[in-house]
Amino acid sequence: MAESASLARGPAHWDPQQYQRFSRERSRPFFELLARVPDGEVRAVADLGCGPGNLTYTLLTRWPEAHIWGVDHSPEMLAQAAALPVHPHLRFVQADLAQWRPDVLLDRIIANAALHWVPHHATLLPRLVSFLAPRGVLAVQMPYNCDAPSHRLLAEVVAQEPWRSALGGWTERYFVEAPLWYADTLHALGCTVDLWETTYYHVLMGPDAVLEWMKGTALRPVLSRLDHDRQAQFLEVYREKLRAAYPEGPYGACFPFRRVFFVAQLR
Ligand SMILES: C[S@@+](CC[C@H](N)C(=O)[O-])C[C@H]1O[C@@H](n2cnc3c(N)ncnc32)[C@H](O)[C@@H]1O
Repeated sequence: MAESASLARGPAHWDPQQYQRFSRERSRPFFELLARVPDGEVRAVADLGCGPGNLTYTLLTRWPEAHIWGVDHSPEMLAQAAALPVHPHLRFVQADLAQWRPDVLLDRIIANAALHWVPHHATLLPRLVSFLAPRGVLAVQMPYNCDAPSHRLLAEVVAQEPWRSALGGWTERYFVEAPLWYADTLHALGCTVDLWETTYYHVLMGPDAVLEWMKGTALRPVLSRLDHDRQAQFLEVYREKLRAAYPEGPYGACFPFRRVFFVAQLR
C-alpha cells in the first residue's frame, strides 16, 4: 500500500475521556487477543500504544513476575496513565513507536488498536520481532474496517470544502496491510502465526453514539487540525450522514466493526 506523509504534521491530540466512553467495547478485543497469547517464562513485556494504561495495568495480574512497559507518544493519554496506582514493575514511557527500542529483549509485545496509526509495517514488523527474546511473542490487534460507512463518510466530508482546505489536504490513512501479508511476513521472520478476524456488532447506546465513538479515535486527527467553529460545522455534516448510515433502533445503534488479530511466536 502507498503510504502518505499526512501525519508528518504531528500526532493527533487524544482525549482519554472520550476514548474511554466505550471502554467495554474497546477493551474486549484486548482480552480476546491476550487469551491467545501463551504463558511461559515471561519477564519483560511491552504494551505498545498503551493509551490511558488501564489495559496495560491488567498485565500485572497476568504476569506478576514481569516488568511491564507501556509506550505511547500522546501526552494526554500518558497523563491518564500516570494517575493509575504506582506499581514497582510498571513504567510508562513517552516515545514514537517508529523510533522506540527497548533496553532489554522482550518476552511479550502487545499492541492493541495501535499499530494501524504507525506507517511502514514492512520495516516496523522486522524491528518489533528483533526486540523479542527467544520464543518471544508479538500480539497485535488492529481495526480492519476502512471500507465501513463510518470511514467512507468521513473521507467524503474531509474531501469537501471548506474542510479540505482547512485540513491542508489531510486524508485519513490507516496503515493496515491485508491479513495474508502479515502471515507471510511473520513466517518469513521466523515466527509461527495465529491470525484471525472478528467482526463485532456493537450495540451503542445514547444520542449519536457512532459519532461519539468516532470522536474518540478516527476523528482525533481531524478535530486536532480544525478550529472550534470549523469543528462544529464538520461534526454537523458528518453527524447527519452517520444518522442515515447507522439508524438508531429500539435497542440502540448497531455498529459493525471488523478487526484483524495475530499472535506471532518466534520458532
Ligand atoms: C486507540 S488507542 C489504543 C490504546 C490502548 N492500546 C487500548 O487498547 O485501549 C491508540 C493509541 O496509540 C497511540 N499511538 C498511535 N501512534 C503512535 C505512535 N506512532 N507512537 C506511539 N504511540 C502511538 C495513541 O497515542 C493512542 O494512545
